[in-house]
Amino acid sequence: MSITPVPRVAVIVVAAGSGTRLGAGAPKAFVGIDSHSILWHCLHGVFGAPNAQVVIVAPESRSGDALTDALAVAPDKADVTSVVVGGPTRQGSVAAGLAALWADIDIVLVHDAARALTPPAVFERVIAEIDAGAVAVIPVLPVVDTIKRVDESTITGHVDRSHLAAAQTPQGFRRDVLDAAYHAATAEFTDDAALVAEAGHRVATVAGDARSFKITTRDDLERAQSLITPSAIEQPDRVMNDLHVIPRVGVGTDVHAFGGEGNLWLAGLEWPGERALSGHSDGDAVAHAIVDALLAAAGLGDIGTHFGTDYPEYAGAHAEAFLSRTRALLVEAGWRIGNVSVQVQANRPRFSARRVDAQAVLSAALGGAPVSVTATTTDGLGFTGHGEGVSAFAVALIVPA
Ligand code: CTP
Ligand code: MG
Repeated sequence: MSITPVPRVAVIVVAAGSGTRLGAGAPKAFVGIDSHSILWHCLHGVFGAPNAQVVIVAPESRSGDALTDALAVAPDKADVTSVVVGGPTRQGSVAAGLAALWADIDIVLVHDAARALTPPAVFERVIAEIDAGAVAVIPVLPVVDTIKRVDESTITGHVDRSHLAAAQTPQGFRRDVLDAAYHAATAEFTDDAALVAEAGHRVATVAGDARSFKITTRDDLERAQSLITPSAIEQPDRVMNDLHVIPRVGVGTDVHAFGGEGNLWLAGLEWPGERALSGHSDGDAVAHAIVDALLAAAGLGDIGTHFGTDYPEYAGAHAEAFLSRTRALLVEAGWRIGNVSVQVQANRPRFSARRVDAQAVLSAALGGAPVSVTATTTDGLGFTGHGEGVSAFAVALIVPA
């Protein structure tokens, strides 16, 4: 039986940026090119590099998605793959990746997830150059455009392009050199080679690749789309992506006992004359089940994470406060709500006369997403049948914004 040697090469894939210039409403690495994300495509090149530790640096809210992509691309590499949470700057994200490297690693490649189509050959060239003695190496492409220096809208000079090169990633370093440069760094740089050069090291170059362009704007994303020819087997997925529908679902339940003060609040409505439910807030089990379903779909924890008893501002709060805050959390994480379906189990109140009102109130609190409310009794069985309380069960569907 052959034993795989411990990797001495690591690839840090920085995927924690927000993608402001792309403006897709989601962290850039998790935006789809076809039916797969930018990160998924990028990992094909990364896992092409032989026997390397792979550290993916992702936004906290997308760590799970990053691992899912990695396991989908290279299920046999699960042992050498990990995901860590990034920082507010690229440099901070690289530092988080460096902190996760194994002791045996002596060559580190840092790669932008946004360079989704970098072929494995570029990784190999970079590693070979370090093996040949370089302490730092970056892939470059010659600059083909004529370059001018400008001051606002006026040309102030001509730059000789023969001395220029466009820098790409993966950038490779001896691990001790990159670690030391990061420890000593006092300024922010947009790539690692600049930081290592600042520390006084010579940075070598190897040939880059035109396919290794960085997806920064909408045009770049379209260029990547045009370079990918989907196989026949991927066609059904592709149709979904073309419609920008890669949905996720979540479920939530909640139960509250009768016994609160004042009137009943349920499904966002006040029910004069009906017994109130007890709870930290108004005991609106319908709203709380919806909150859990939405948070679960987005992978953002559950109601206790965001509204538990640690949050006094939600004591006595009604559905509107819970639902609008939940919607804001989803929007922040790059999701929009498709629809919500919720079922109440209770002897009372009788929903039929106020179903439409309840749906309207809940839907308004969720920014207009359709909400369906159904209600049932349980034939006299269980705590709802005995009139001790109500139970609600919700399913939510969300899609990338
Ligand atoms: N990156 C990161 N952590 C950050 C910022 C950037 O891991 N805090 C990563 C990005 O995910 C990307 C690479 O660094 O793969 C290059 O950055 P860039 O293209 O600038 O991506 P974004 O910062 O996401 O985009 P923008 O600057 O348009 O917001
Ligand atoms: Mg950026």
